[in-house]
Amino acid sequence: MTVHLSSREAVLFQKNILDGQVGIITGGSSGIGLAMAKYLLEHGAKLTIIGRNAEKLEKAVAALGDSVYGTAGDVREADDVNRSFAAHMTQFGRVDFLINNAAGNFICPLEKMSENAFMSVMNIVAKGSFLWSKAVQPYMKEAHYGRIINIGTTYSWGPSAWVGHSGAAKAAVLNLTRTMAVEWGRLGINTNIIAPGPVKDTEGVRRLMDSPRAGKLIQQLIPVARLAEGWEIGALAVYLLSPLGSYINGAAIPVDGGFHLNVPGLYPPGFNPSSEQ
Ligand code: COA
Repeated sequence: MTVHLSSREAVLFQKNILDGQVGIITGGSSGIGLAMAKYLLEHGAKLTIIGRNAEKLEKAVAALGDSVYGTAGDVREADDVNRSFAAHMTQFGRVDFLINNAAGNFICPLEKMSENAFMSVMNIVAKGSFLWSKAVQPYMKEAHYGRIINIGTTYSWGPSAWVGHSGAAKAAVLNLTRTMAVEWGRLGINTNIIAPGPVKDTEGVRRLMDSPRAGKLIQQLIPVARLAEGWEIGALAVYLLSPLGSYINGAAIPVDGGFHLNVPGLYPPGFNPSSEQ
């Protein structure tokens, strides 16, 4: 299987570091989920990817190759989660890790946000992470081994103007992560957050920063002066899933080039992205 990776991969992990590990990535058909999937596969993992859109999912599975299985489902629906998890177990018979990556987001000031809009994002991000973690936990508990990675965001620990639903949902995930870490750590299950900043070629950047002024501001405010590449998020996932991550539990690790040090939310104070689009 050939996947595109930056030349920087040359200095990274041994290719077999995840050999024998089987996991699940929600929202794995595109964006950060797909980038992580590619990277984990390159390092020996086998995967199930979950997505709502069956067509998109099928395309991603075909592109990712033989070590990948896809099953369509909505992370907000307990029946879908349980059915997808059963399908994964039938396919692979084990689960070593789960990456709760599925998300929803759009620019909307709180005063204009409908109840349905708020709850859609809360349900995808917070409820979806809860439901999936709960589904895999009994198997990880029995195996006395598991790794759960929740994809968070640095704006969950600051204000998150214009994306208040997402900020609230990711803050819930931050607390849930820490709670899982303390409840399940003794069961051999480590739970952590990867908190990416803006990542190149993703739906998130298209939806949230798709204006020349927003794009320029973001680039100016990211200390390393560029967006992340997808594999750079995957690299931390490989680290956390490998034996190197054995003592990391309950951490929330930014992979954002230092962006959060300059901007507490997603946008600089006083910047209104809705007036830019
Ligand atoms: N501005 C304001 N409200 C919006 C909106 C926008 N840009 N997009 C959706 N909404 C509102 C809808 O109007 C609806 O509310 P209403 O019933 O009061 O009108 C509510 O949000 C739900 O929208 P709907 O499209 O029915 O929900 P869905 O479950 O099909 O989709 C979303 C969920 C809204 C999160 C959708 O954007 C999505 O599927 N996103 C997935 C991909 C994504 O966001 N990736 C980026 C990750 S960073």
